[in-house]
Amino acid sequence: MNYRTGLSERPQYDVVEKPWCIKVNANETNMNLPPLVFERVMSRLSHVAFNRYPNEEEDFLKEAIAKSYSLTKQNVLLGGGSSEIIEKLFYSFGGDDKAIVYPMPSFSMYRIYAYAADAKGVVAPLKEDYSFDAEEFIETVNKNNTSLAVLCNPNNPTGGAVPVETVEHIVKNISCPFLVDEAYMEFYGKSATPLLKKYPNLLIARTFSKAYGLAAARVGYLLADEKIIDMVSRSFMPYHMNVLSLVTADIVYQMRHEYEPRIAMIISERKRVAAELAKIDGIKVYPSETNFLLVKCGNGEALNEAFVRKNIGVRSFGKAKNLENCLRISMGLREENDEIIDVIKLFSEGRD
Ligand SMILES: Cc1ncc(COP(=O)(O)O)c(C=O)c1O
Repeated sequence: MNYRTGLSERPQYDVVEKPWCIKVNANETNMNLPPLVFERVMSRLSHVAFNRYPNEEEDFLKEAIAKSYSLTKQNVLLGGGSSEIIEKLFYSFGGDDKAIVYPMPSFSMYRIYAYAADAKGVVAPLKEDYSFDAEEFIETVNKNNTSLAVLCNPNNPTGGAVPVETVEHIVKNISCPFLVDEAYMEFYGKSATPLLKKYPNLLIARTFSKAYGLAAARVGYLLADEKIIDMVSRSFMPYHMNVLSLVTADIVYQMRHEYEPRIAMIISERKRVAAELAKIDGIKVYPSETNFLLVKCGNGEALNEAFVRKNIGVRSFGKAKNLENCLRISMGLREENDEIIDVIKLFSEGRD
């Protein structure tokens, strides 16, 4: 077989999947669509014109999103999850070993997209407590002739967030395009979107997969200056968004207020679980502004095995650099979270 050079060495997303009893390993929402939204989606799907390419549906969704940020549809690009958006951005600003800077630890796919785009992934390390070092980030961007700088805010997998003022400080002090990946923003609430009109090199990626519980439909979007949207959209196939996902996301977006109670519930569960875990000996819980918690203990592998024995899937980072002995746990339903707390308690008491 004559595959593309470098394909076999390409790093891969490594997550262990099986039919878990409790699945809290992918920062999904552990509830299906709110009933009213579900009903509207089902009714809308019965009117889909399956024979047509989805021109209109794409425009409707872009317009709805643009309007909510007082932007125009030329400022919006849709993708198959924000994954596709980020991958295409790395492609668009990559090639020729150009530098793309992102923090570490952060979303593991940045490294993979940089590799796939023939770019050089350059990391700006977080501090030891996983707080973000804006000056280090700015310096790394400026000394590497960077073509794209990326900040995940709030950050996956550490959970911490930086204020809008820090995002503005960065964008003022770098000249390359600056992508802020706001996949978890609904759980934090302080988006950098108001800065978009002021800074044409600021780009913001959002997703329907997390707070809107629509991971299965694969819909995300990019907000940016129209010249950037125009260039990046050249890297997509025509009609890359399918009509089922477009109309579903459109209904979800129109009805996004229906999600407010569950977002509030997830935030309050995160606070409750964090407080409970902090009481357990040998367990460190990092501050989080997301729908998950990063937990560190003396032996992460053994704790992960204790979860596996109970058929609970959490995200274990194995020996990943700077994440040794860390597990990331998404917030499930209250009863699921109670079981998770119990597993950790028993583990710490040596009774699992
Ligand atoms: C920080 C971050 N960005 C982007 C994504 C991609 O999400 P999706 O492709 O489902 O929009 C994820 C998913 O886990 C994420 O954690």
